[in-house]
Amino acid sequence: MASASASLLKSSSPVLDKSEWVKGQAIRQSTVSVRSLPSGPSSLTIRAGSYADELVKTAKTVASPGRGILAMDESNATCGKRLASIGLENTEANRQAYRTLLVTAPGLGQYISGAILFEETLYQSTTDGKKMVDVLVEQNIVPGIKVDKGLVPLAGSNDESWCQGLDGLASRTAAYYQQGARFAKWRTVVSIPNGPSALAVREAAWGLARYAAIAQDNGLVPIVEPEILLDGDHGIDRTFEVAQKVWAEVFFYLAENNVMFEGILLKPSMVTPGAECKEKATPQQVAEYTLKLLHRRIPPAVPGIMFLSGGQSEVEATLNLNAMNQGPNPWHVSFSYARALQNTCLKTWGGRPENVKAAQDTLLTRAKANSLAQLGKYTGEGESEEAKKGMFVKGYVY
Ligand code: 13P
Repeated sequence: MASASASLLKSSSPVLDKSEWVKGQAIRQSTVSVRSLPSGPSSLTIRAGSYADELVKTAKTVASPGRGILAMDESNATCGKRLASIGLENTEANRQAYRTLLVTAPGLGQYISGAILFEETLYQSTTDGKKMVDVLVEQNIVPGIKVDKGLVPLAGSNDESWCQGLDGLASRTAAYYQQGARFAKWRTVVSIPNGPSALAVREAAWGLARYAAIAQDNGLVPIVEPEILLDGDHGIDRTFEVAQKVWAEVFFYLAENNVMFEGILLKPSMVTPGAECKEKATPQQVAEYTLKLLHRRIPPAVPGIMFLSGGQSEVEATLNLNAMNQGPNPWHVSFSYARALQNTCLKTWGGRPENVKAAQDTLLTRAKANSLAQLGKYTGEGESEEAKKGMFVKGYVY
């Protein structure tokens, strides 16, 4: 499969041109139909979808040097919690005002290559009446979309959960593409204190693989996100052990579902001790464990590793990313943070129109710091006390 896919991809130019993803124009390239190798009981069926070239370009665009992803796809319930923390009601108008502030931050595209949106935002306009998607494209930021339908209890497990959303996913992803989305996100979680059970890990991996195949079939680069939650008092070695198991299964099922590795992005948790572990790890230790995990489990065909922040403080998430970029890596090692990009920004805004500029400046400060960390050039100087505060919440939902 690998060599067949590779030869299909050779002719593609490396980076997605802005005009190619403006306003959801359908640009199906190099249609490659289902092909079979010589017949026989053991012959393989090789598939490469009609979007193969475009998927590779989109993934490379998002994984471009010095840039990463702004995750702003909080569900309405989670967004409500964020707004409540600054004393605002969870209304559509308040969500719109906050997200307008984020997408219109001047020059954001210098540091941010992609923005993950919740469905409401994909179809929403800014407070000035421009489509949010159009504003992002003008900023040279690729719009993405959260497509999972959230976590529910996994019957038969040790109080673990599974991620819903496969029903109707093909038609939803096709519609999101038309609306301008070019990549997708599916977040499932694995809990270390609750096991994790073999059942929960398999279910998480299988769901991610089915989602990834469906997203690619409809032109969206899938972000594959099995979040290993920070919850627990275990040490870093235990996280490493669980992460190895999880990523082995994820890649097993991705391959089984004929997902094209050149057209995906990963969103792993960094390998850290549990949040309640007494022994803390330095950025160098986190980088060493995390890179060891990636080298063991992630094929170099994958273009980008876009970490989640998972409750780390803004500064911690940036320092850890910077430590991972002190030498060359086979993949683009970058960020896809929500809390670690937005926290100070949200507090600075506080729901007041007169604070919009100051809030945008803090977003740009964080985005620039992480851009530097992607390039391995972040020094950590001049950071505020607010940016050093951890944001871990037990049993965090998204
Ligand atoms: P955090 O960076 O806040 O963990 O969120 C990233 C995300 O998108 C979770 O799915």
